[in-house]
Amino acid sequence: MRGIVFYGTEHIRNKHISIFDTTLRDGEQTPGISLNTEQKLNIAQQLDKLGVDVLEAGFAVSTKGDRESVQAIANAGLSLDVCGLARVKREDIDACVETGVDMIHTFVSTSDVQRIHTINKSREEVLEMAVDAVEYIKDHDIKCLFSAMDATRTDFDYLIDIYKSVEGAGCDIINVPDTVGVMSPSSMYNLISDINNNVNIPIDVHCHNDFGLAVANSLMAVEAGASQTQVTINGLGERAGNADLAETAMSLNSIYGAKTNINTKYIMETAKMVERYTGINIPAHMPIVGENAFAHESGIHTHGVLEKSDTFEPGIMTPEMVGQNRRIVLGKHAGKHAIKKSLETAGIYPTDEQLNEIIDNIKSIADKGKRITDADLYTIASTVMGKP
Ligand code: KIV
Ligand code: ZN
Repeated sequence: MRGIVFYGTEHIRNKHISIFDTTLRDGEQTPGISLNTEQKLNIAQQLDKLGVDVLEAGFAVSTKGDRESVQAIANAGLSLDVCGLARVKREDIDACVETGVDMIHTFVSTSDVQRIHTINKSREEVLEMAVDAVEYIKDHDIKCLFSAMDATRTDFDYLIDIYKSVEGAGCDIINVPDTVGVMSPSSMYNLISDINNNVNIPIDVHCHNDFGLAVANSLMAVEAGASQTQVTINGLGERAGNADLAETAMSLNSIYGAKTNINTKYIMETAKMVERYTGINIPAHMPIVGENAFAHESGIHTHGVLEKSDTFEPGIMTPEMVGQNRRIVLGKHAGKHAIKKSLETAGIYPTDEQLNEIIDNIKSIADKGKRITDADLYTIASTVMGKP
């Protein structure tokens, strides 16, 4: 593939990585967000179209509304696997089973700080509860994902003990949550390598973004052997959110040459749907889906991009690939080429002298901090050139 630079990541090339989306569960835990069942169903259908492998639909035991929406999604005939969240408690698992989900994600705190201060259980009790929950899920013949919550702050030997015990109980896949986002990329790589050397079932990761490292940590986990990553649309989630789906999937596809089932051309419309339903705006500079992700203003950049787009874009990821648009912005950094091209697109062909006058006008307006819209551009052009 053109442009990919492999420095020691060839082992990921062509490897299939499963995408687990938790927008409707962890994403909905973003402060201030509450989605109704119809909105959740629409998002679930969109995620199915996007090619997500597993969708976490919600925490069925938590509210009547959550249970209804998990049930509606589980019975919507989607091709992805629908997953429900449950603490390591039989009542939570029963609530999930009743909804008809394909997979149950059961979790318990394993770090000392959470174990002592939130659930007040000994290490032995936590281990027994985890094994019992996994066995109970497998008795129902449902796929089981087990999370050691706050795994990255858990004593390593104890963590391995728990993961090996749930593996012995029939668990299908273990998750390693970086619950408060404290890992560095290299420490994540080392942790996942060590876990991988101790267990024989697939490894999933769930990275929070408290230091802005969620995507980097997820990618390092994949480099170290994880085969599934948990993500959300627009990086929504508790506090600073989770690893963003678009950034994770596009990095896997375009930088690593790995395989995901994501139909990348639906990335933008999915991001916009979630923005609309949640009311959480996508920042302009957000990678891939932000308004500026493929926008160019400076003269040198626009000239280059108008000549050949990969001069100032990655090339291995184009706006078309993700359903985005390339935009040439006319501001104070705009160059002659960009302004001429914008005018020509509207059928306006100034002489060189007129073009220079139009450029001077644009720059003096933009210098005052104003953004130049298409309407401004046409007004300036007709003032300089006279009305047609
Ligand atoms: O952040 C976390 O640890 C979670 C668990 C439920 C996996 O969201
Ligand atoms: Zn989380």
